[in-house]
Amino acid sequence: MKRLTASQKHLLGASVLVLITALILARVFLAPKFFATPVTTLVEVCNDEACHKTGLLYQDANLSTETRVADLLSRMTMAEKIGQMALVEKNSLDDVNDIASYGLGALMSGGGANPTENSPKGWLDLVTNFQTYSQKTRLGIPLLYGVDANHGHSNVIGATIFPHAIGLAATKDTKLVEAVGKATAEELLATGITWVFSPDLDITQDQRWGRVYETFGSDPSTVGSLGRAYVRGLQSVNQNGLRVAATAKHYLANGASTWESSTNPNFKIDQGNTSATEAELRKIHLPPFKQAVDDKVKSIMVGLNTWNGEKIVFNKYLITDVLKGELQFDGLVISDWYGVYEHEENIYAALVKAINAGIDMVMLPYDYQDFAKHMQQAIDRGDINKTRIDDAVKRILTMKFETGLFDASAGSTTNLDTVGSPAHRDLARSAVQKSLVLLKNTKTMPLSKKTPHILVAGSAANNIGMQSGGWTVEWQGIDGNWIPGTSILKGIQDTVSSSTKVEYNLAGEFEVQENLADIGIAIVGEKPYAEGWGDVADPKLSAEDLATIQRLKAKSKKLVVIIISGRPLNIKEEMKDWDAVIAAWLPGTEGQGVADVLFGTVPFTGTLPLEWK
Ligand code: BGC
Repeated sequence: MKRLTASQKHLLGASVLVLITALILARVFLAPKFFATPVTTLVEVCNDEACHKTGLLYQDANLSTETRVADLLSRMTMAEKIGQMALVEKNSLDDVNDIASYGLGALMSGGGANPTENSPKGWLDLVTNFQTYSQKTRLGIPLLYGVDANHGHSNVIGATIFPHAIGLAATKDTKLVEAVGKATAEELLATGITWVFSPDLDITQDQRWGRVYETFGSDPSTVGSLGRAYVRGLQSVNQNGLRVAATAKHYLANGASTWESSTNPNFKIDQGNTSATEAELRKIHLPPFKQAVDDKVKSIMVGLNTWNGEKIVFNKYLITDVLKGELQFDGLVISDWYGVYEHEENIYAALVKAINAGIDMVMLPYDYQDFAKHMQQAIDRGDINKTRIDDAVKRILTMKFETGLFDASAGSTTNLDTVGSPAHRDLARSAVQKSLVLLKNTKTMPLSKKTPHILVAGSAANNIGMQSGGWTVEWQGIDGNWIPGTSILKGIQDTVSSSTKVEYNLAGEFEVQENLADIGIAIVGEKPYAEGWGDVADPKLSAEDLATIQRLKAKSKKLVVIIISGRPLNIKEEMKDWDAVIAAWLPGTEGQGVADVLFGTVPFTGTLPLEWK
C-alpha cells in the first residue's frame, strides 16, 4: 500500500469527520424516509447455556415425531421459521456465526465444496463444527447437512466410488442397488452427514445430455424399481441413532428437455424445456417419483427445468396439487441450485411464487440475508400466508427428527473406517462386474488368463479419475490418478497368469515386434464432466482415442475396445473393425471388476439401460 504524507493525513482526517457528521445529521432528520431498512429480526443467540431450557416436550425422544414437531413449531418465532427454510452452500457463509444468528435450517456442499483436509475425518470435523453453531440458538434446532453423494460418498477422498447410476442400471439388480445405497449411507453417516441429493429419477431421453450417467436410463419401470431400491438402501441404515434422508430428483421431466432449449447460454439441453402433454408427464416421468414416495423418500428436489415454457419451481399444480396432494408426499420439497432466482429480474416476486407453489426449503444457495428479509416482507404484506410457512417448517423439522439429529450427535460416530472399507470396495467391484455390457463379440471374449502377450493402451487404461467420471471429489470430476482405487490396467495385470506379458502405453505406441501381440486392449472414452458442461452434439470417441486404437490394432492379432463413458457413444462405423466391444460406463474406483469379467472370472450379465445408437 502507498504511504501518505502528514498533510494528506490531516486532510483525510478532516474529510472523514465531515462525512461522519453529515451522516449523523441525516440519520436524525431523514431516518424514517431514507434509512428504514426492511426489518429482519434475527434469531436469539445464546452466549452461554443459560438461555437453553430443558425438559421441553420436543426434546423428549420418547414422544412421537408429530408431538415433538407440533411442540417445537409452537415455540418458534417467525424469524426462526424463516431461517429453517434456508439451504446455504457452506462456502457462501459470510460468517460462521450467521448459522446461529439467522437460525439457518441447512448447509450443503455443492460438488467439490470440500473441507481443507479432504478426508473422512476432515468431513466429520467440518460438519460437527457447523453443528455447534446451530446449538447456540435459543431452541437448539440442529442443522441438516446435504451433499451430492451420487455414486458413493463421492466428494470424499478415500470413499468407495461405485459405478454411476447408468452402470447400476445395466445390472438391473435391485438387491445390488439397495446394497449400494446402504453402503453409501454408512459412509455418509460415518462423516456425520444425514442428507443426500440422490437418487436421480430422471428418465433419459437424449444421449447428448450431460447428465445421462446420473440416471437409471430411459425406461420408466427400470428407473422406478432401481430408484426405490436405492432409496430403501440409503434410508435403511441406523448408525448411532442417525439416519440418512434421500432426495428424489429432479421433479419433473428433467430428462426430457430438448436440444437447444436450455435457458443457460452455456448449455444445450440441461436446464432446458420439456414440451409434453400432462398425460405424457404422468405416463413417463411421474411414476418413478410415485414409487419413491410410496417407499417414503424423505425429500424431493424440484429441477431447474421448464415444462412447456414454465419453470417447474413455480408450478403450484405440479408441486402442491400433484406431488403433495395426489401423491400424498408429506416430506420436504426443496428447490435446486439457485433455481428460484435464476433468470429472474424480480427476486422477491420469484421467491413468493416458489414458496406459494409449494417449495419448503430454498437451495439459495448464496444470499441468505436477502432471503430472510424478503420472506419477512412477504409475510408482513400477506404475499405468503403463515399457514404455508408452518407447513414448510413442519416438513423440515419432521425430517430433522426422523434422521435423529435432535437426539444423536454427529460427532459421536466411531465408524470412520467404514469409509472406503474393504467390504464396500468388494460390493463396488461386484457392481462393476454386473454392469458391463458386451456390445460386440466375434469369438474373442472372455480372454484367457494365460494369453501369452497382451498390449494395453488408451486414455482410460490407467486413469481412476476417468473411470469415476463427474461428481468425484470435484463437481466436474478429476482426470488422472488422485484417489485410492484400482485402475483397469492394474486389474488386468493382477488377473493374468504369471507367464503372461502385459505391456502398457497410453497412446498405443509400442515398439515394432517380431510377432503381433495376441490381444490388444484399448480402454478409451470420455473425460469427466458434469451437468450441462457435458451436453454435446455428437457423443463419440476423440481423435486421439481413435488414433490409439488404430495403432494398437496394427500391433495385435485381436482387438478388444472397452468404452468408459457416461452414455452411448457413436462408434457405429469404427466398431466394424474391432473384435470385441464392451460398455463399462463409469465404473468408479474398483477397476478390478472390469478385469474380472474380461478374463471370465465372472460372466457378462449386464444389459443396456438405454438404446446404444
Ligand atoms: C444440480 C443438482 C445438485 C445440486 C447441488 C445442481 O446444480 O442440478 O442435481 O443436487 O446442484 O449440488
